[in-house]
Amino acid sequence: MKIVHISDIHTGKSHFLPELAEKVIKRINEVKPEIVVVTGDLTNEGSYSEFVRAKSYIERIECEVKVVVPGNHDARNVGDLCFEEIFGARSKILQHKGVTVVGVDSTQPDLDEGHVGREKYEWIERCLTTDWTDSFKVVALHHHLISVPKTGRERNILTDAGDVLELLLRCGTDLVLCGHKHVPWVWNLNGTAVVNAGTACSSKVKWNIPPSFNLIEICEAGEGDEGRREAGREAGKEAGKEAGREAGKEEWGMKIFRMYSKGGQELVWEKK
Ligand SMILES: [Fe+2]
Repeated sequence: MKIVHISDIHTGKSHFLPELAEKVIKRINEVKPEIVVVTGDLTNEGSYSEFVRAKSYIERIECEVKVVVPGNHDARNVGDLCFEEIFGARSKILQHKGVTVVGVDSTQPDLDEGHVGREKYEWIERCLTTDWTDSFKVVALHHHLISVPKTGRERNILTDAGDVLELLLRCGTDLVLCGHKHVPWVWNLNGTAVVNAGTACSSKVKWNIPPSFNLIEICEAGEGDEGRREAGREAGKEAGKEAGREAGKEEWGMKIFRMYSKGGQELVWEKK
């Protein structure tokens, strides 16, 4: 299973690089991902025309399953209304071939700060634990959950990052996909990969860090692990989700590649 994660394309007059966007689309189509996740900042000012332009590029990515969440730039100038009209709900769940993707809106109107909010915690937990022993669990949101190096003074991190991290780890999240900082990075937090994407095709880069996106390859362990999965189901029924998570986990392997938008790629993390 291949998941492509792109972020911060920032269509708009000032920073968007259309030729690079063409390259990125071509490379993604060559990869043939089964799921594409876009973690926000599709636009620069949240304007309708920018959303339409962003849609026209995202539409050309040949993949039937796409999860798109808004970023802080998309929440400017009531862009959240444009987002909903063009891309649907700001928070959403999608399940495809054993993978659950929970897209979470971390934006607030006309503010750059990220915030998930207590009112969404119960929904997120339900999404992640309904079928929690089997599926590979992905949570996608725009703002970063953990500080990212080479990004200067910390700001705009989720105001409730601690509570969200605790929630996602308790629910056995395998992979967290974020954007916002325009610097790619991977944190391994107790086995959960917290992955930041760079900007895919804008000039808003930091230092000499080139535009990039992420490719995540995940594979289910061999048939021999069915016993462990079954044990996870049973333990979960009897002893609660924590026990089930521990018993049923580790059945997925994962490779994370940093895909440089101008060409080239690098394996940056592997979980066997
Ligand atoms: Fe952002």
